[in-house]
Amino acid sequence: MRKLVAGNWKMHGLGGSLAELQALKRGLGTAACDVLVCPPASLLARAYGVAAGEFPVGGQDCSQHQSGAFTGDVSAAMLKDAGATTVILGHSERRQYHGETDALVADKVKAAWAAGLSVIICVGETDAQHEAGRAHMVCHDQIRGSVPSGASPTNTAIAYEPVWAIGTGKTPTMAEIANMHSHLRHCLVEALGEDTAGVRILYGGSVNPSNAAEILNLFEVDGALVGGASLKASDFLKIIMAIKPF
Ligand code: PGA
Repeated sequence: MRKLVAGNWKMHGLGGSLAELQALKRGLGTAACDVLVCPPASLLARAYGVAAGEFPVGGQDCSQHQSGAFTGDVSAAMLKDAGATTVILGHSERRQYHGETDALVADKVKAAWAAGLSVIICVGETDAQHEAGRAHMVCHDQIRGSVPSGASPTNTAIAYEPVWAIGTGKTPTMAEIANMHSHLRHCLVEALGEDTAGVRILYGGSVNPSNAAEILNLFEVDGALVGGASLKASDFLKIIMAIKPF
């Protein structure tokens, strides 16, 4: 499967930001990877219109419920209806600021699949867990708890995002990234069987135009989840173009 470069706009972007998507569309040309942009929910339908089929768009979270009295929440079917193909789930900012547990993330994944969306499930250790040498165990437990059975390369990708690398400009060494990605693949197959052997494992956390080539061309890395550097088309395109065709 081709590598995937996904942009996570987080809570950034108003109507004027759609110009970045126009620029992205113009620049994509012969990208050697799949591309996805996840704008805030308020821009999703318009982003879908601007993308005009040149690249898919996705959500950043969805409810575990199908519908009902859940003020402020957005269902997976609503994301799909607005044009999304995919939704990011279990991002560390959701886990940290909204108390999302592995069990809740797993329920959200099931809701997304039921609505016909694919998912990007995020895992990653905090700084303290990293310092304590617990990164492998933490990510193992998150994979076990957040990825339901039924995961396959077409409906699921995993994003390894060390929390201490998100928005900080710090990144693990290439050897650390390769090692953790191999570990995650092992955890997936051990927990969910050979069907998950081809699930894409993305790296996320301070990916930028300067480090993209090194990270994205690692054999173990199947793509990137990009936050800050996805907001500007020129930076995001440099990251996308860092992937060498096979
Ligand atoms: P960053 O964010 O690229 O700004 O570090 C990545 C993410 O949180 O998905």
